Amino acid sequence: MNRAKEVIYVRRPLSRAAKRRLKYVGIFLLVFALLLVLFVFIGFPLIFMNSIALQRLLMFTNWNLPSKSSHFEKFELLAGLRNFYVSVNDLNSKKIISLGVWHLLPYIYEPDVITDSEFDFESVLKSGNSSVLFYFHGTGEDRSSAFEKYKQFRGFFHVITFDYRSYADSTKAELSEDAVVNDCVQLYERLLTRTNASIIFWGHSLGSALATRTLAIIQAKHVRQPIGLVLEAAFTKMSEELYVHPYGKIFAWLPYFEATVIEPLQKNGFIFDTSKHILSVNVPIMILCAEDDSVVPYTFGKKLYEIAKNERTSMNITLYYQFASSLGYNHNFIYKSFFFPYFINYFHYVCRNATEVKTLN
Ligand SMILES: *[C@@H]1O[C@H](CO)[C@@H](O)[C@H](O)[C@H]1NC(C)=O
Ligand SMILES: *[C@@H]1O[C@H](CO)[C@@H](O)[C@H](O)[C@H]1NC(C)=O
Ligand SMILES: *[C@@H]1O[C@H](CO)[C@@H](O)[C@H](O)[C@H]1NC(C)=O
Ligand SMILES: *[C@@H]1O[C@H](CO)[C@@H](O)[C@H](O)[C@H]1NC(C)=O
Repeated sequence: MNRAKEVIYVRRPLSRAAKRRLKYVGIFLLVFALLLVLFVFIGFPLIFMNSIALQRLLMFTNWNLPSKSSHFEKFELLAGLRNFYVSVNDLNSKKIISLGVWHLLPYIYEPDVITDSEFDFESVLKSGNSSVLFYFHGTGEDRSSAFEKYKQFRGFFHVITFDYRSYADSTKAELSEDAVVNDCVQLYERLLTRTNASIIFWGHSLGSALATRTLAIIQAKHVRQPIGLVLEAAFTKMSEELYVHPYGKIFAWLPYFEATVIEPLQKNGFIFDTSKHILSVNVPIMILCAEDDSVVPYTFGKKLYEIAKNERTSMNITLYYQFASSLGYNHNFIYKSFFFPYFINYFHYVCRNATEVKTLN
């Protein structure tokens, strides 16, 4: 080996030209960083303030969900589940909105479903022998997201779960709180024509706001009423949630946060005020929250509990369960609690008992 050919790099002091270039790169990076900060903290709030499309996108985070019906149909291979579609009318147009729906049977029917390929889902739903749990999923989710949670519900209930408009394989249509709630009210009314069973509403996260408002509207109608409402990882209202949401927090300190984020959302109808609508709910309510919830602080659940218990003047039965941080349930996993089935079953009992009392009076 010819060692003389070995190249040896020597650190030489930078030339004047190199130093100058380095200085320009430094200045460039500094300016870039400054522009980035300006864009994130000034540009973005300004765009957000003026773009209802962007506001809608951040309220209803429906991107990245399976959009093919086949995704939802393939679950039918698992016994006791059927996938179907229900049409509702758009709030502001003649458009027909098709919503993707799942019906999961209570486990008591499992032996029959397994042996009978023609099993009649519709007639067991109609019989009303088991109550129905009507499930409202959270914002970044579709009807298959809470599959593991449904397993717990199926110990007691039929589960009816669905996708909001523009979610998964439901019809693409303008997303607004009013329009989505209007769809939900119609879907509930359609369910009433298919069963006489007792119905409990269950909402998770943003779904808890939609479930509460849907129920509040139904309470004002002369139709058969749901017998209970469960709020899991619920927030009081969107304007309060935004200050503590992991993404909201990045901007919440800005003096113009209210003017560029909160107020435009309010103005455009993205309000989700559960603390208000819960007052119209005159069926028993159960509130579930986890102390380590990093998306919706449990203190919101606690506040809703105080409101539901103290400010509702009739049928103010409210159950409240707060799960310790050490359990690690965070935003999505309260169903893993050993006591979860017990809480569901007890609440079901409380609802039936309260309905009985109401009917007697
Ligand atoms: C519902 O319950 C009634 C009475 O217990 C029973 O006769 C009927 O077969 C049940 N129907 C279904 C579909 O389970
Ligand atoms: C509900 O009960 C009423 C009265 O018993 C009956 O007429 C109706 O057909 C039932 N509806 C369903 C969907 O089972
Ligand atoms: C709760 O409701 C009952 C009637 O259902 C009523 O008598 C009571 O005053 C209510 N409590 C509050 C705090 O309003
Ligand atoms: C059942 O109803 C009765 C009569 O209103 C009431 O006193 C009792 O507290 C209720 N039980 C439960 C567990 O809600």
